[in-house]
Amino acid sequence: MKFLAIIGVSLMIALGGGVASAANADKGAKVFKKCKACHSLKAGKKKVGPTLHGIFGSKAAKMKGFRYSKAMKKSGVTWDEATLDAFLIKPRKFMKGTKMGFAGLKKKKDRDNVIAYLMTIK
Ligand code: HEC
Repeated sequence: MKFLAIIGVSLMIALGGGVASAANADKGAKVFKKCKACHSLKAGKKKVGPTLHGIFGSKAAKMKGFRYSKAMKKSGVTWDEATLDAFLIKPRKFMKGTKMGFAGLKKKKDRDNVIAYLMTIK
């Protein structure tokens, strides 16, 4: 029993350590495949959605020439880890009236990784 408990604890530490250092931009690039149909990463290039070039740290609805929803325009959001995370879980829940037709990323890891990836696109 005691032996099992020790294994259990060390497993928890190992897994916990993994989670703490989880965000991984390479994995995020794979997650981004889900966004690619609608989002370019090139400055100034829009698709169905606005470019996500330099999105991290930027204010919402900043791309010139993209017709954002009213909801996005008046959101006042600045895209950082917290707001991107909340938006990407369920875009329409976080921002009622957004035009982003995407169900969301349920897995925390996927969100962390894709955010880490977006941070590298400057
Ligand atoms: C079906 C198309 C579609 C998909 C898939 C999609 N988006 Fe979007 N996205 C949009 C549209 C359209 C908007 C503009 C929303 C608005 O104006 O309300 C948007 C807006 C955004 C914004 C705000 C941009 C700004 O300039 O403020 C972010 C951030 C974003 N999307 C991230 C993502 C990420 C990350 C993914 C993949 C996990 C993704 N989107 C998947 C269509 C999409």
